Amino acid sequence: MENMTEDKIQTVKVEIPQQLGYFYPIIIGENILDKVGEPVKNYTKAKKLLIVTNKTVHPLYGKKIKASLLKEGFEIDFVILEDGEKHKNIHSLETIWQKAIEFKLERKDVIVALGGGVIGDVTGFAASTYLRGIDFGQIPTTLLSQVDSSVGGKVAINNKLGKNLIGSFYQPKFVLTDISTLKTLSVEELKVGLAEVLKYGMIEKSCGLNGLNISLIEYLKQNKEAIFALNTNTIQELVKYCCELKAAVVNKDEKEAGLRAILNFGHTIGHAIEKCSNYENINHGQAIAIGMKGTLFISKARKLIDENYYKTCLELLDLYGMDYKINKSINPEALYEAMLGDKKVLSGKIRFVLSTGESEVDVFNDVDKEIIFKALKTLY
Ligand SMILES: NC(=O)c1ccc[n+]([C@@H]2O[C@H](COP(=O)([O-])OP(=O)(O)OC[C@H]3O[C@@H](n4cnc5c(N)ncnc54)[C@H](O)[C@@H]3O)[C@@H](O)[C@H]2O)c1
Repeated sequence: MENMTEDKIQTVKVEIPQQLGYFYPIIIGENILDKVGEPVKNYTKAKKLLIVTNKTVHPLYGKKIKASLLKEGFEIDFVILEDGEKHKNIHSLETIWQKAIEFKLERKDVIVALGGGVIGDVTGFAASTYLRGIDFGQIPTTLLSQVDSSVGGKVAINNKLGKNLIGSFYQPKFVLTDISTLKTLSVEELKVGLAEVLKYGMIEKSCGLNGLNISLIEYLKQNKEAIFALNTNTIQELVKYCCELKAAVVNKDEKEAGLRAILNFGHTIGHAIEKCSNYENINHGQAIAIGMKGTLFISKARKLIDENYYKTCLELLDLYGMDYKINKSINPEALYEAMLGDKKVLSGKIRFVLSTGESEVDVFNDVDKEIIFKALKTLY
């Protein structure tokens, strides 16, 4: 960022080749919430900003952002939604649209998401539809949203029949990622993001990057304490690298025609677990951690990976406290049915992203039902 003076501010450029010449910056640093005016000035023409947040995040960070934007001469207003996945729905969308109309937001103005993935997804979808599309910015405040949901432009709301069924691809104008916001996050929420970070370790080579001196898996093995302690340098390096990995994939495949599917490593089983649990009593990170274990089992059973690598990955998951199990009340048949019902099923075939080597993965549509059941049985 041209005007930001702190030496530790770093920028990841996300390029979307399908939109000729379009890119947006992910600006990453510590204690940079009060700098949000700069990307607004540099990447938009906004005079007014509508900031969408929730009842948990607003008291933590709303004041700081408001003060800095008012000082810069912007007109701002807030939408403060209820907290929780169940509010990623049409009612929250209505609330945002309504406020945008009352606040007389124009096309050149900006809607900004301040919060985790729920706020990012619903706000992005509102921005993509208000006045047929108004500029959108993200200030992600959970680890999951910083390394995953704020990168790549997928925005959506849930429907009572399923998650993320209604949505679009809508890229932001900027993302401002302040790693100091992670300090107020609970360890469980941190671990939701860490599950995705571990996933990046297992797909790193297939993303086409090799940005650290060592493999991401090795980095994660060596830096567990620093990561849980939220050591500034380590967390910033990690968040930046994960954004680079996802950006590299999105750059090649914005709309999930091919490569982007690899980001779903562990998610085929994980989504089925979440669905069969009615999205209660288990969070996304826990579900995909279990899903990754099942997926590694299938990969080993198909002889795509050897015993050593299988063990390395399981040990890494355990090192990060991902020792979760499927609740015994959910039977494997129900999970299989849920996998068949997933929106990513193609012509009745369940799609798995399997490990094919160290930090390498590929997409398979031909996994035997028998192996799937064998894998599921190891997860209780
Ligand atoms: N668009 C995408 O590409 C994509 C990718 C992955 C996940 N998602 C979506 O992201 C959502 C999950 O996101 P999430 O894990 O961030 O959950 P979340 O947004 O519900 O946030 C988790 C909890 O942390 C609270 N919180 C947020 N920031 C905080 C902070 N700094 N300090 C204290 N508390 C804070 C929230 O209020 C909430 O209670 C799901 O809806 C999922 O579908 C989207």
